[in-house]
Amino acid sequence: MLEYGQRTKPLPRGTGHHVLRRIIPLFGPYRWAMLGAGLFIAVNGLTVSAMPLFTKYVLDVAIPTKNFPLAAYIMLGFVAAMAARVVTWYIAQSSLLYIRERIIYQLRCSVFAHLQELCLRFHHRYNAGYLYDRTLGNASVAVGTFLSLLFNTLVLYSCQIVFAVLICLRLHAGMTAYVLGISAGYVFINRYYGGRIRELTMAFNKQTNEFAGQIIDLLRGVKTIKAFAMEQRVVNEFDTQLWPLQLRSLDVNKVTMRLGLSTESLGFFIQASIVVVGAYLAIPGHIKLGTMVAFISYQQMIIGMISALASVAGAYGAAQAGLEQMYEVIDEHPTVVDKPGAAMPPTVQGEIAFTEVRFSYDGSPVLNGISLQVPAGQSVALVGPSGGGKTTLTNLLIRFYDPDHGTITLDGRNIRELPLRAYRGLFGVVLQDPFLFNDTILNNLLAVKPEATEEELRAALERAQAWEFVVGLKGGWHFKVGEGGGQLSGGQRQRIALARCFLTNPRIMVLDEATSALDTQSERLVQQALQEIMQDRTVFVIAHRLSTVRNVDRILVVQQGRIVQDGSYETLCQTPGLFRDLHLASLQAGVEETVGTES
Ligand SMILES: Nc1ncnc2c1ncn2[C@@H]1O[C@H](COP(=O)(O)OP(=O)(O)OP(=O)(O)O)[C@@H](O)[C@H]1O
Ligand SMILES: [Mg+2]
Repeated sequence: MLEYGQRTKPLPRGTGHHVLRRIIPLFGPYRWAMLGAGLFIAVNGLTVSAMPLFTKYVLDVAIPTKNFPLAAYIMLGFVAAMAARVVTWYIAQSSLLYIRERIIYQLRCSVFAHLQELCLRFHHRYNAGYLYDRTLGNASVAVGTFLSLLFNTLVLYSCQIVFAVLICLRLHAGMTAYVLGISAGYVFINRYYGGRIRELTMAFNKQTNEFAGQIIDLLRGVKTIKAFAMEQRVVNEFDTQLWPLQLRSLDVNKVTMRLGLSTESLGFFIQASIVVVGAYLAIPGHIKLGTMVAFISYQQMIIGMISALASVAGAYGAAQAGLEQMYEVIDEHPTVVDKPGAAMPPTVQGEIAFTEVRFSYDGSPVLNGISLQVPAGQSVALVGPSGGGKTTLTNLLIRFYDPDHGTITLDGRNIRELPLRAYRGLFGVVLQDPFLFNDTILNNLLAVKPEATEEELRAALERAQAWEFVVGLKGGWHFKVGEGGGQLSGGQRQRIALARCFLTNPRIMVLDEATSALDTQSERLVQQALQEIMQDRTVFVIAHRLSTVRNVDRILVVQQGRIVQDGSYETLCQTPGLFRDLHLASLQAGVEETVGTES
């Protein structure tokens, strides 16, 4: 497995032709294997280039002297040369194909590892289709195709063309010049159409990726589509958007067909002209019949090579574009990063302080100067109107984002000075929209703590009031939860997420609406478990239900990015202000005790 750090340093920055240079260091470990493969390919090229000579000698030497055994020996030599060709090809290809897969593997690993490093700002900017494409999709496929052609075609045909031209020059220099001159027409045709094909393919790929992103979105939103009976509209939209894509594919195929027809027609013309020129030289005896036949073969060989080399040029363009797309991700800098030399203190108490923290996601302020001291071990509830900034406040605490202004400290040390992974490792988090991997319940738990024992896993599930329903599932904790946990109810999903949080025995807990989907009875039981867990930990609980926040040490009311009230449950219930208003309003409305309304 490629070490993440191995990738970034050796690859210089740059685009265009430079981008291909950036992958050169990846070939380093395979240089000897490549050299060996190159030698085998050269031998292979030599055998292929020598093929027409065997027929020539049968025609010019064996037949005129009526020497049949010689003809048979010459063709035996031909068979031996072909056997050498097969063997050298097999040996060279075996190692080159392996090297190709290694290079693609390393590139894909680099992109994926970097995607994991990049912050949420980046991930919110690009859709899954775009990021998939840059990891496993068209971009890396184009690089793979190019590498195959580079090895198989460029090296092989370059060797063949050199040998073929040398042999031709020995046979007849004038005829060689004619064959090369007339074959140049191929170069022009291939250049012209190759450029067009490249442009059209790139446009097609770009459009396909955008479309793929939309399809992923629609597939994930299938429930909403059904709920709002949007199926027909979605299908119509799909049909409408797909057709232009098919038309682009048609364009690519049409140009490819034109290239094929043009080269084929030119091929016939060249063949006819070579026979005429050959006959013109053979009749007065300037060349022998075998030489003329050999030239026809060489001419076909040369145009075959030109077409193949042109396909390398095409693949080069596509690979360059593909690599640029991959490096677009690799070159993206994470904004939340470790400071050099960052180290964790030996012990962590869990005292948190915000000082004049301001933050915006995209320019419009979301937090407007949050100042807050939370002693170690205190449990704090964040309540307030929807969109007020509660989740954002905890996002900054977990360092999903860094504040635009102000500082956040842990035990008096700026959290930016602490190593990111170790810092995040202090937290147990249940996100507002908990995500479960499409795997078993057991594996979802083990994902955060692979070394957890059976007892620990069971205890975590029991604390989260999940054990009872888990044992009732088909397969128990081996039950597969489906995409995003879709095979579970909302409350079950939340309880698994809670169990996952408890399992890591975190120093600081952030529970964002972690029990909002539970029935009152289950929530009460989870609350009891939480009481126990909260004992010696710093805890942030975000909740709309008052039952959830009644037992915390302190309540902060967050409104429009500010903390507008701060106090215990009892104090806030007695103090005039937003908390009491909302509390009274909810009681008057007769609904379950809730805090917060749409702002
Ligand atoms: N990723 C994001 N990009 C841009 N804006 C965002 C993003 N996440 C949240 N916001 C905006 O930030 C503001 C605060 O959102 P936040 O999620 O912190 O509210 P909240 O108090 O947790 O609300 P709720 O009680 O509904 O969960 C909202 O106006 C929201 O539109
Ligand atoms: Mg929220």
